[in-house]
Amino acid sequence: MTTPLHASPVSTDDIVQALTAIVGPQACLTQAPDLKPFVTDYRGLYVGQAAAVVLPNSTQQVSQVMAWCHAHGVVVVPQGGNTSLMGGAVPEAQASSPAVVLNLRRMNQVLAVDTVNDTLTLQAGVTLNAARSAAEDAGRLFPLRIGSEGSCQIGGNISTNAGGTAVLRYGNMRDLVLGVEAVLPDGRIYSGLRGLRKDNTGYDLKQLFIGSEGTLGIVTAAVLKLMPQPTASSVALAAVASPAAAVALLGEAKKTAGQAVTAFELISGPALDLVLGYLGNVKSPFEARHDWMVLIELTSGASAEGLDATLMQVLEAGLDSGLVLDATLAQSGADAQTFWRIREEISDAQTRTGGSIKCDVSVPLSRIAAFIDEATAAVLALEPQTRMIVYGHMGDGNVHFNPLRPADRPAKDYLAAFYEPISRQVDSLAHAAGGSISAEHGVGVAKRDDLSHYKSDVELALMWQIKNALDPQGLLNPGKVLPAPVAAPVVA
Ligand code: MLT
Ligand code: ZN
Repeated sequence: MTTPLHASPVSTDDIVQALTAIVGPQACLTQAPDLKPFVTDYRGLYVGQAAAVVLPNSTQQVSQVMAWCHAHGVVVVPQGGNTSLMGGAVPEAQASSPAVVLNLRRMNQVLAVDTVNDTLTLQAGVTLNAARSAAEDAGRLFPLRIGSEGSCQIGGNISTNAGGTAVLRYGNMRDLVLGVEAVLPDGRIYSGLRGLRKDNTGYDLKQLFIGSEGTLGIVTAAVLKLMPQPTASSVALAAVASPAAAVALLGEAKKTAGQAVTAFELISGPALDLVLGYLGNVKSPFEARHDWMVLIELTSGASAEGLDATLMQVLEAGLDSGLVLDATLAQSGADAQTFWRIREEISDAQTRTGGSIKCDVSVPLSRIAAFIDEATAAVLALEPQTRMIVYGHMGDGNVHFNPLRPADRPAKDYLAAFYEPISRQVDSLAHAAGGSISAEHGVGVAKRDDLSHYKSDVELALMWQIKNALDPQGLLNPGKVLPAPVAAPVVA
């Protein structure tokens, strides 16, 4: 299927020599201890192999590295902050030829802030935190908000179409990108650093690089949309009667507060128990234990008092109708921070217990409550002591449905027995409800082969056609996203 341009495989020495000549000796790492953090994924589940890690400092250097690797048949794995949960940013363990990891962290310059056009132009290696700060310094908001914002990079956010806790209001990364510069597998540069909100001149090529997880090109710079900075925010935690009650409360919130509803996060009782145990010094905001809670955040350009009053109105209506069982409104910025900390640390709390079965699904809101009920029943039928860590961005239909081992059972045993059957059940229930088996975490290696069950033949064929058109040798981030193509039947 692939057409190598090179006559014979190159040695590691050849690769190192050539790439050192492009990026300089300090920026071409070759020693095993130096390579380790770049070939090991964030959760330590995927450990790959690399001949070298290169750290280019310009688009020109990325282009030269790609051109050389293309001419010599060398695999390149692009990498940002290496925070993928799907093993998408590290090389394969069983690679047939040596790979090069191309990490963009030295390309970390904010290039321009345009407060008339409301755009931020930056290199791909700028961290999400730094991008948000650059926007804030200019009196604007860059609204993408995810737990790993201190280390994840804008290039990775684009390549994975990152989501997070403010998608309900502002959309995914795809909705926040106006222009992209990307280096193609053969080293050519696609220059699309335009800050236009309207441009109907044919195919929207930048979309090829958003969410394709570095399999079609390496994003080296981008133009992002900036938003007005909210002047007020109001945050509450509410215990709700059920997932269905949570959905109904979201409806109330949208009716009363409209656009101001910025985040609406679900937290199950076991998720709260787990995170409070992990944090140690944070108390539950509720007297009683509840099975389901939601964190609601409103933001706007209005006054803080007005926003608090609106949120109180939503909560009181919920209490009156029985949707809400108890509620607490943050009285200060510190309270709001604590509520968010509880929500954001759920992920790490699971990792600390040996890891859960991560299912990151999305389902239309109209069917999400039924999905949660059915998937919970299916998991508990397999192992009734499972801790149901169910949480996430319910407002946009995204649930992190993460069954966790019973407290007295070793993680290894539980994962060996249930990872496959539980993820299969959860994914197929989400699919049957019109949902997706990967809402925001992407595909990487972890979900690659599952795509063949959930995408149509036409979708898979189109994905491969696009991949082969841009990367006919299959050298860019191989083994990620695309399941092995099914051979065409032989016609006699
Ligand atoms: C989150 O929203 O906390 C993450 O996307 C979930 C995770 O880390 O599994
Ligand atoms: Zn999430």
